[in-house]
Amino acid sequence: MLTGAHSAIAATEPPKVVDEFLRDVLEGLSRAQKTLAPKYFYDTQGSRFFDEICNLEEYYPYRTELRLLPRVAQELDHVFREQASPGLNVVEFGAGSLHKIKPLLTSMNAIRHFTAIDISGDHLQAACDSLAHHFPELSIQAVEGDFTKPLDLDTQACTPMGFFPGSTIGNFIPDEAVDFLASARETLGPGSYMLVGVDTKKSESVLHRAYNDIKGVTARFNKNILARINRELGANFCLDDFDHCAWYNRDEGRVEMHLHSNRSQSVSLRGVEISFERGETIHTENSYKYNPTEFEALAQRAGWRTRNWWLADDAMFSMTLLYCDA
Ligand code: AVJ
Repeated sequence: MLTGAHSAIAATEPPKVVDEFLRDVLEGLSRAQKTLAPKYFYDTQGSRFFDEICNLEEYYPYRTELRLLPRVAQELDHVFREQASPGLNVVEFGAGSLHKIKPLLTSMNAIRHFTAIDISGDHLQAACDSLAHHFPELSIQAVEGDFTKPLDLDTQACTPMGFFPGSTIGNFIPDEAVDFLASARETLGPGSYMLVGVDTKKSESVLHRAYNDIKGVTARFNKNILARINRELGANFCLDDFDHCAWYNRDEGRVEMHLHSNRSQSVSLRGVEISFERGETIHTENSYKYNPTEFEALAQRAGWRTRNWWLADDAMFSMTLLYCDA
């Protein structure tokens, strides 16, 4: 069963999306520290660059998590075999291309339903169609919407289990991460579970390499946000006038990505002049790293208890299973 819940739950119409993008860009670029939100990386071109990043030798998170997932799935199969007789409804937040759900569907007998939430409805529908082809027994629901806001889900009388892989949680500052986890708890309801993929703290050189690859794919991914503003909002950013910068901020426990203006310049966007001093940056992304006990404390602030956690090779990446009673 494929229930395209698009019309029912679609959060925004296209013109509104453009307005919101424009408003966010203008607001972010008028701050003392200029900022653009990382969710705007992912237009079609940006999603392609991100897929390319995932294939880079230096970028360990994607493949490390993908290697860890079958082991986690097998253990979860045992956990849910003994309880949750009505079966599970897995709810993926920001589902994207649906690569990571496959190991769970392959090993976990208890999964009856799969609900995929993503902001990009067309991409999601295509991915759900292909998933339905591979798992014909599964009931799938595609929900187009902003996964950071509470949603009214039909949990199909199953035990809900949220799924938030990829360390996307690292894009939020800690207070926002707590808000998101609390909102997910509200969406999923009492007695639910949540499986979260979290990148760990590790050597600065490994982190530095992962965000400063030799081929310059991450640089193109970062600069694409300016290209997108040019394409969709008609600005005149010159991509050569900005350099990709990424470093580990030890005090904050996060990798920061910036775009560094390599000359003094001015850019125009819908009649607004935005000036840059030489050396000034636009902060485009935070990627927080948490060790399992740090993440446990964060999740606890949002009302979740830690049921179990797993570490991939050399503690390079982690998965945590959260639970809430009430
Ligand atoms: C998708 C947010 C997990 O933070 O590592 C990859 C995005 N940025 N390279 C990350 C990203 C630069 C990625 N997340």
